[in-house]
Amino acid sequence: MKTRYIDLKNEINEEKIEEASKDIINGKLVIFPTETVYGIGANALNEEACKNIFKAKGRAVDNPLIVHINDLNMLNYIVEEPNEVEEKLINTFFPGPFTIILKAKNVIPKTVTAGLKTVGIRMPSNKIANKLIEYAKVPIAAPSANISGRPSGTNISDIKKEFDGKVSTILDSGMVDIGLESTVVQVIKDKVRILRPGKITKENIESLGIEVEIDKNILGKYDGKEKVLSPGMKYRHYAPNTKCMMVYSKDEEKMIFEINKIACKQKTLIICRDRNYNKYNIQYKIKMGNTLEEIAHNIFSILRKVDKYNVDLVIIEGMETTGLGLALNNRLLRACEYNCIDLDRMQIYS
Ligand code: TXA
Ligand code: MG
Repeated sequence: MKTRYIDLKNEINEEKIEEASKDIINGKLVIFPTETVYGIGANALNEEACKNIFKAKGRAVDNPLIVHINDLNMLNYIVEEPNEVEEKLINTFFPGPFTIILKAKNVIPKTVTAGLKTVGIRMPSNKIANKLIEYAKVPIAAPSANISGRPSGTNISDIKKEFDGKVSTILDSGMVDIGLESTVVQVIKDKVRILRPGKITKENIESLGIEVEIDKNILGKYDGKEKVLSPGMKYRHYAPNTKCMMVYSKDEEKMIFEINKIACKQKTLIICRDRNYNKYNIQYKIKMGNTLEEIAHNIFSILRKVDKYNVDLVIIEGMETTGLGLALNNRLLRACEYNCIDLDRMQIYS
């Protein structure tokens, strides 16, 4: 299949988005930007089209897809009426980097929900994503645009390597804004359970006066025994082939000292904050930004690069687990396959 490539980096050309929406209507796959990461989308009401998403990604069939909508009429068509807490979340965080698990109506094919009674719903704030749904006039099922297990696609040069020839159209609007996937939540007995942390933080939800619990799989290792609420948490994800390790202390100088100590023993690549770059005396280093927002923005494209360095070990500077730090820790723990040192607690997961 020849993939049509549409460049929207400099202007949002609505005619071109309308052309891409015809592919969705015709049961084909379209890669499109959202504010979090790129998605690989199909008509969520067309089961055959959605099956092709799983094929293109090599995705496990028990891992459900998120359905993207652009208005609340679409919501009523695909899910049962939300309760009071769910409604409050929807009114506050839609549109945005937020996915809520709701009870699915029968119009949503089993392939999309992976046989669950629920479906994840998200209303993106990205204008191109919105227009694509508006022109297609159907909800769009879309997981992140990456081969399963790889870091989510945040820019088209990474995505092209994996999906050129496998999808009908790619809409390119350059690098995405946030860089980490949406926060996924489920309301259980009036409490919000965060299944996947993201830009909408625990603290943001608590500020609505709602109680929030963090699913234990977010910072813990899935033990293979219990049923997981979010099937995606079971799988190997984000990890490069090179062994990665996260090292953290609240005391930045202590962290740098310990990282230098480990790094001098083997051929190491260090992924560090810009301000610490000159404090590491080794050959291979990558800057990841200074703030949590900057790190979120850059981290997936950095993780995709590390294998090229041909080193024995990658060390990533860690961060606190509050705010956006919870989402970063969640992704980086997986990238490091739980190989982490918290110097303040001297806790070594591995
Ligand atoms: O930011 C995002 O959410 C991106 C963009 C494209 O919207 N999408 C995305 O989708 O990250 P995906 O498929 O890569 O991740 C969806 C996550 C998976 O971990 C999946 O297991 C979980 O959401 N999920 C989907 N439906 C669910 C359901 N009904 N119950 C529990 N977890 C669900
Ligand atoms: Mg994904």
